[in-house]
Amino acid sequence: MPEKICIVYNAPDTGRCSAVGEHVAIAGVLQAVDSVQEALEGAGRLVSRLAFQPPLERGAAAIRRLAPDLVFNLFEGFDNDPVSESAMARLLEGLGLRFTGAPAPALRRCCSKQETKALLRGRGLPTADWLLVNPGDRGEPNTFPLEFPCIVKPVCADASHGICSDSVVADLPALRRQVARVHATYDQPALVEAFLPGREFNVLVMAPPLRVFPVSEIIYRLPPGTPPILTYGAKWLDDDPAYHMSAPCCPAAVDAGLRAEIQDLAVRTFALLVGRGYARIDVRMDGNGRLMVMDVNPNPDIGPGSGALLQAQCDGLSRRAFIDLIVAAANGARPPGTGAWG
Ligand SMILES: Nc1ncnc2c1ncn2[C@@H]1O[C@H](COP(=O)(O)OP(=O)(O)O)[C@@H](O)[C@H]1O
Ligand SMILES: [Mg+2]
Repeated sequence: MPEKICIVYNAPDTGRCSAVGEHVAIAGVLQAVDSVQEALEGAGRLVSRLAFQPPLERGAAAIRRLAPDLVFNLFEGFDNDPVSESAMARLLEGLGLRFTGAPAPALRRCCSKQETKALLRGRGLPTADWLLVNPGDRGEPNTFPLEFPCIVKPVCADASHGICSDSVVADLPALRRQVARVHATYDQPALVEAFLPGREFNVLVMAPPLRVFPVSEIIYRLPPGTPPILTYGAKWLDDDPAYHMSAPCCPAAVDAGLRAEIQDLAVRTFALLVGRGYARIDVRMDGNGRLMVMDVNPNPDIGPGSGALLQAQCDGLSRRAFIDLIVAAANGARPPGTGAWG
């Protein structure tokens, strides 16, 4: 009997993101679904796909009816409800189904950059200094604890949503403007973080068995005066000039020592915050060349053109072999509910 796999994902809903021109990232999930389906069917699996709309529980009966051997979890959360990404994993855990990717607690904690950074700091792993500003908080200019420049981002977002050149701020008025923009547009706290001006790396980690992929680097060739950051436009919009001036390069041009240091930091971060599945760890150097964990992305985009797929290919894997590894990691993980992971 071929293995029955059900791909679950969010039916793209571009509501709020469309309003601010950030809908391409949302629609990208369909490309990943097509790509995974093709790879799984090519390997002889029986594949079904299930798009979810809120409320999540409405789809529970449909999954139960399908009774898959495995669920391929490409659910990224509902628009305007980033925490819902972890709710899918929780639902699957509750149904006793085996599924790919990270367990629910990992998805929930990594959804908050604040919680991620606090856990890293608590374990002595390096991450830039930061400050959380809730809507309604009053900033006291005299006691602002960070040095400029800083970067201001939504505390709970991914895929460069809410990141533009103006996100990098050099003084208090600009900081206040960006904080207000995050509060108004994304309806959530703003994370103000010390700006890391150095090289930017991404590393994919997978388990079980533990596997760390080649280091990738984002190479910026932006005009002088433009902050070297991966803005929403640089990541998603091919008519944005920055899109063609910010490209991942894999493998990164790093010596063996630096490569080992980056990969070791990524593995320790993965072990602390994710545990099983696959995650892309974003790391950046501060002004003194010290590595800092910037962003932890369990279940990152694995569709065509994604950084994760690029790293897998750089490690000699075909797209199909990469998807197979993700399935094998899920099948190698203990059944949900045993408390072994997460
Ligand atoms: N503290 C920082 N210093 C320098 N650049 C940053 C910092 N935080 C974010 N960036 C830039 O913004 C991009 C998006 O930020 P990130 O925290 O990775 O959010 P996302 O979850 O949207 O990927 C990063 O790829 C990087 O280029
Ligand atoms: Mg990131």
